[in-house]
Amino acid sequence: MDKGRILLSLTGYSPRAWYDLIARRREVVLEPEGATDPSITYAIVWKQRPNLLSRLPNLRVIFSVGAGVDHLFNDPGLPDVPIVRVVDANLSQHMTEHVVWRVLDHHRQGHLYRAQQKKKIWREPAQRVAADTAVGIMGLGELGRDAAKALKAIGFTLNGWSRRPRKVEGVTCFAGEEGLQAFLQATDILVVLLPLTKATEGIVDYGLLRQLRRRNALGGAVLINAGRGRLQKDADILRALEDGTLKEASLDVFEVEPLPKTSPVWTHPRIFITPHSAATSDPNHLVGPMLDQMDAFERGEPLRNLVDRAAGY
Ligand code: NDP
Ligand code: OXD
Repeated sequence: MDKGRILLSLTGYSPRAWYDLIARRREVVLEPEGATDPSITYAIVWKQRPNLLSRLPNLRVIFSVGAGVDHLFNDPGLPDVPIVRVVDANLSQHMTEHVVWRVLDHHRQGHLYRAQQKKKIWREPAQRVAADTAVGIMGLGELGRDAAKALKAIGFTLNGWSRRPRKVEGVTCFAGEEGLQAFLQATDILVVLLPLTKATEGIVDYGLLRQLRRRNALGGAVLINAGRGRLQKDADILRALEDGTLKEASLDVFEVEPLPKTSPVWTHPRIFITPHSAATSDPNHLVGPMLDQMDAFERGEPLRNLVDRAAGY
């Protein structure tokens, strides 16, 4: 098989670093150039324009620069070729750091200390240990399992929820709709690391938050969402914070991004916001493995980290 050319289409990313790293090993064309070029066999994309890829007659593989691939499925003309997503130790490390940071901040009462400092109050609150708090991870995939391992090492009690039954060391695992209620009822801090699919859209609503354990060592339930914004209902989170269903939340993702300046989520005193930055794709770590996969594919080897189109992730 010939060495194929690459179309690079990265909406919202600066493509320069990606382009330069790719160009050292392969011919690459930056969109809008090359949009109908028959010599292009690979596309590396983030939120491509609708119908961009359908005009490439010899496209063989699509590479998503993110772990999540919902950005691809908005395209009605998405060609029926294999899709490879990001599975990368550096990305997992970033996400695990984010999750551990947010879990520890809630567990160690960061909110209370920040409020005390503002008023120059010197008061030592009661402390609890990690084992007294159950962290429930929705999504026991690459990122969820890595975060679970780090949280377990600190001593937290771990629950996990996935689509299919899984066994993860140190984690009490639940699966499917039939396992969801028991998972939530045993969880104090809910960490959402699900992909956005038809089955998961809007799943983090008021009814789901109501099922979390509130009588616990933390004095309430906590939500951390670093998966996708459209998994959650922003208004339901605000309602849950107001009526005590939730104590605090750390949100990295939102129904609409960037979060509109008019959104009340920005100013809620018990929401901690990061701008979809829990784990950023780094071309220095990702371009090499993508190009290695193309070389291997051309030698006839199977592609890795393929997306299951029917499942949507
Ligand atoms: P994986 O595909 O490895 O894991 C997904 C997990 O979610 C799996 O355990 C899967 O179950 C579970 N799942 C999927 N659908 C359902 C469902 N209907 N019910 C129950 N469980 C379900 O993904 P990653 O761990 O690599 O990434 C997870 C997500 O994190 C990405 O899709 C992306 O949206 C988000 N992300 C966010 C970033 C950020 O900066 N905020 C950065 C990177 C990713 P099963 O094990 O049975 O397949
Ligand atoms: C991803 C992301 O999916 O950055 O990788 O959101």
